[in-house]
Amino acid sequence: MQAIIQVMDSTIAVRDPYTVEHQKRTTHIATTIAQDLGLSPANLVTLVVASRLHDLGKIAVPMEILCKPGRLTDPEFAIIKTHPQVASDILKPLNFPEGITQTIMQHHEHLDGSGYPHGLEGREIMMEAKILAVADVVEAMCSHRPYSPALGIEKAMEEITQKRGIFYDPAVVDSCLRLYQESPVVLMGEIPSVAGKPLEPLGALPERATYDLSPELQEKLVGHVWQRLFPKKPRMVMH
Ligand SMILES: [Fe+2]
Repeated sequence: MQAIIQVMDSTIAVRDPYTVEHQKRTTHIATTIAQDLGLSPANLVTLVVASRLHDLGKIAVPMEILCKPGRLTDPEFAIIKTHPQVASDILKPLNFPEGITQTIMQHHEHLDGSGYPHGLEGREIMMEAKILAVADVVEAMCSHRPYSPALGIEKAMEEITQKRGIFYDPAVVDSCLRLYQESPVVLMGEIPSVAGKPLEPLGALPERATYDLSPELQEKLVGHVWQRLFPKKPRMVMH
């Protein structure tokens, strides 16, 4: 699993290193919320793997659309909307557990049915995808890119508050807001950005119970569950 994620990272990074960083940071935020909500270990693993790969399908989106400053046209947005399906198609031959591919497929669905690609509503959306949706928008609004400056953590919290119960699951939003109140650094995994400024790198993070799912531990956990899911393919597990 670790090798698969590494290969995907390097493949995406050849032309779009921002998406790789986005996926790593989103995974941190998503797992922090998931632990706060008491997600089961199996669901946590699904969420970790799905978060690390959720925007893989953007590999099929032309760079002039991905990096376009300002509003996208409808045809451009239609191309963006294909990325969950593209990711699912890329991962299909690897026989990923259904929960992982479905979480990736559903990470842009909204509670009110206004999301994509299938316009799913409320209970039709997996909990892992609901968590990933919130983590995704928070990270995206906080990250600074040359063509799209960071809006900042305050704006991100406003956004999920406004769309609570409309786009985003209320329990997930409440957990994210609570974690932010307790410690923005623990939620974000680094010093949160302020509007228009890049994220500042942070050295050693404070030791906190909610921060015990380090990237190394994530990989270990994924490997362990992979072994359980696919006991006949130990070689894929160990490397
Ligand atoms: Fe996405």
